[in-house]
Amino acid sequence: MLPIGLLMIEHRLIERLINLMDPRAVETGKEGKIDSGFLDFAIDFLKTYADKCHHGKEEDILFRTLEQKSLSVEHKEMIKDLLHDHLRSRKMVDALAESKNKYLRGDKSALNDITGYIQNLVQLYRRHIKKEDKDFFLPMMGYLDKQEQSRMLKDFQDFDQNFIQSVYKNEMINWEGRKFKKKECDDSKRCNG
Ligand SMILES: [Fe+2]
Ligand SMILES: [Fe+2]
Repeated sequence: MLPIGLLMIEHRLIERLINLMDPRAVETGKEGKIDSGFLDFAIDFLKTYADKCHHGKEEDILFRTLEQKSLSVEHKEMIKDLLHDHLRSRKMVDALAESKNKYLRGDKSALNDITGYIQNLVQLYRRHIKKEDKDFFLPMMGYLDKQEQSRMLKDFQDFDQNFIQSVYKNEMINWEGRKFKKKECDDSKRCNG
């Protein structure tokens, strides 16, 4: 398999979330309430899977390798454009999470922002995936020989393996920090919250 095959498989899973987000963006607006369980899942998926794991492989491995090649001006511009999309999607997901929290704190005016961010994310991801699948990935493989392609596929697989380990290790450290801090507070009775 070409290394881009793995990225395209990931695109198909991201599209499944995007397909779920489209009608729900309208539904939440009409009903005047949010499906916070689904939104929590969508935000976590977009931050962890789509951004850290998928964009992580594109940025840290694919783009970084290509930057060392003599790329055409057009292809250099494409990478800049794709990086810009990644940055925009990251900011939009943060803004969506912030609006969701605002809404849950009782600010009902945040509902319009939530609907807007969902619709913008759907549009951005659809356009971005189309650009990569149709215009970018395959021409980029022309800059790599067979050996470099195999090494990249292995690097992607190693990235995934290390990624899942680091996600749960960091979560554990985070929860240990919270639990131990709470225990220290309970023991000393000096906790300020
Ligand atoms: Fe991308
Ligand atoms: Fe991608």
